[in-house]
Amino acid sequence: MPLPVPVLAEGVDPAWLPPAAFRPLGTRRTLIRGSGLLVETVHGEVADACARFGGRVDRDPGPGAGVSYDLVLELEPGRGDLGDEEFVCGRENGCTTVSASGQSGLLYGLFHVVRLGEDAFSGDRAREVHRPALALRMLDHWDNVAVHPVMGQVERGYSGGSLFWEDGRARGDLERVRAYGRLLAACGINAVAVNNVNVHRTEARLLTDRISEVAALADALRPYGIRTHLSVTFAAPIVLGGLETADPLDARVREWWARATAEVYAAIPDFGGYVVKADSEGQPGPFAYGRSHADGANMLAAALAPHGGTVHWRAFVYNHRQDWRDRTTDRARAAYDHFVPLDGEFADNAVLQVKHGPMDFQVREPVSPVLGAMPGTRLAVEVQATQEYTGQQRHVCWLGPMWSEVLRFRPEGGTSGAGRAGGATVGDLAGGLVAVSNVGDDPFWTGHPLAQANLYTVGRLAWQPDADPHRLLDEWIALTFPAAPPRLVAGLHKVLKGSWRTYEKYTAPLGVGFMVQPGHHYGPSVDGYEYSPWGTYHFADRDGIGVDRSAATGTGYAAQYAKPWSEVYESPDTCPDELLLFFHHMSYGHILRSGKTVIQHIYDTHFEGVAEVEEARETWASLVDLVDPARHARVAERYEEQLRSAREWRDQVNSYFFRKSGVADAHGRRI
Ligand code: GCU
Repeated sequence: MPLPVPVLAEGVDPAWLPPAAFRPLGTRRTLIRGSGLLVETVHGEVADACARFGGRVDRDPGPGAGVSYDLVLELEPGRGDLGDEEFVCGRENGCTTVSASGQSGLLYGLFHVVRLGEDAFSGDRAREVHRPALALRMLDHWDNVAVHPVMGQVERGYSGGSLFWEDGRARGDLERVRAYGRLLAACGINAVAVNNVNVHRTEARLLTDRISEVAALADALRPYGIRTHLSVTFAAPIVLGGLETADPLDARVREWWARATAEVYAAIPDFGGYVVKADSEGQPGPFAYGRSHADGANMLAAALAPHGGTVHWRAFVYNHRQDWRDRTTDRARAAYDHFVPLDGEFADNAVLQVKHGPMDFQVREPVSPVLGAMPGTRLAVEVQATQEYTGQQRHVCWLGPMWSEVLRFRPEGGTSGAGRAGGATVGDLAGGLVAVSNVGDDPFWTGHPLAQANLYTVGRLAWQPDADPHRLLDEWIALTFPAAPPRLVAGLHKVLKGSWRTYEKYTAPLGVGFMVQPGHHYGPSVDGYEYSPWGTYHFADRDGIGVDRSAATGTGYAAQYAKPWSEVYESPDTCPDELLLFFHHMSYGHILRSGKTVIQHIYDTHFEGVAEVEEARETWASLVDLVDPARHARVAERYEEQLRSAREWRDQVNSYFFRKSGVADAHGRRI
């Protein structure tokens, strides 16, 4: 039986799957070959499109003898040349063919056809194999089941409540979750973790007596090829099992995990595995027992292995109770110092999940040196679609270019540009890309309607880490705004494409990071974290600003990179401008490679950043006749807030540095 396409409640935005995006498919004759749950999903999609637009869909064997088809979607199980998620697409003699050996491959092939639009059905198309570069393409939801008194329901969530949880339990109506799974499959995501990495008491129980709620979510996501994962607390044997220890080498603890995990699989046979934040920001972990993080991860890996599951062990481990007076401790060093010595010790079904930068999702950070230093460990890169430090989905900040830079970074040097070959990229080295989701129960899914572009881009980059992000932006625009006139396409491109750099311009300069208001992290507070225990300092004084992370005179962080980066970052003469204050403490008068002094750069970029927001706001206003009123109004309203906030950033940052340095703006602007 074809699976019906999820029905969106009144007012919920179809995002990048509006019915009109299915018009080319829905006007054609399609034959589907094969059987299985995801084939029913595919059939449901095609049938829905055909019902809308007058096409025809048959199943083989079916009543279609003598019909000539425009599209054949065929499952050929056992085809040795294709993995489960791969497909071949080609077109000859007026017929487009998608062949896959696994059901997921067929589903991805269908969405490929949707993306191609009319192009899928014109001319000839050489048969081309499509395969995801990364096997793991995952979203982590920082959703609490119960509303947390400080963090709310979704920690760092800017899109309303949770899609999964309501009133302290899994939602009864999971139609929206099905629709979410559909959107995710259409951009290539294949795994979702449904609860916060900070596992509070209520949420801990999802693992045991509340597993049926997780199973219901897994049932809703399964038809879209998405495996469900759960964040668990390392202390579960104590808080749930009544043991007095969670020591990973204690036999009773290991048995407890083995039993609990077997029960999880009894409820969810294709369960993906666990996500663990251990010894991090107050979460329990193996250090309490004098054990290593490999011991901790491997214990869970052993419990999951018989069932085909994976443990995602997060590398976000650092001292969050640092003394700000102590200049020798450097939070940026922490992940490398903790984990690189353990390379080769992690089990095959353990994945070390590493934040893309060494700090915490700042607008500009160097790529984490861990990603190039653990060849004997399965790695996943973690990025943050939820815009905790990048405007909290009130500001437009399309992060595609930043994520792309991370994935194309070559830890052993070389550039991705023409001519120069280089070592492997982060995208080659990692087996997974994980994004902290930016989605909630908001009608636009992501609070800011344009933040949908981040979610879409992250999925597509996980499929193809070396893709040009601007091409992915074009894809998102074409799907979300089918048949958009060129002025709309150009306008959308204009407001999104440079928005990350615009945000960078009016916030913390030259890679120094933070300067946000403590706690909620929205808006400027230059010294907000300067005298705090969190390890995020800028050290501005009357002479200069920045953190000396060189090996020669600083914390030694720069030496965690292989050559050439260790050398590039070591000296201010070679360090890229945009990371200069991350790696070095510089005088305000230092002349950047751009030819400007540090202080003038700060002034100029802050004025420019605000001017760019003003311009984007105007561009958006000019699109009013081309965008549906609800979406236009929501974005317009957020531009007002973005502009207010950008001005506040500009004025606080510029005033602060004028007062510290006493250096006037070369252009005589009022600061
Ligand atoms: C950041 C964020 C926290 C989150 C943490 C993490 O520090 O502010 O809310 O829990 O990252 O990634 O675990």
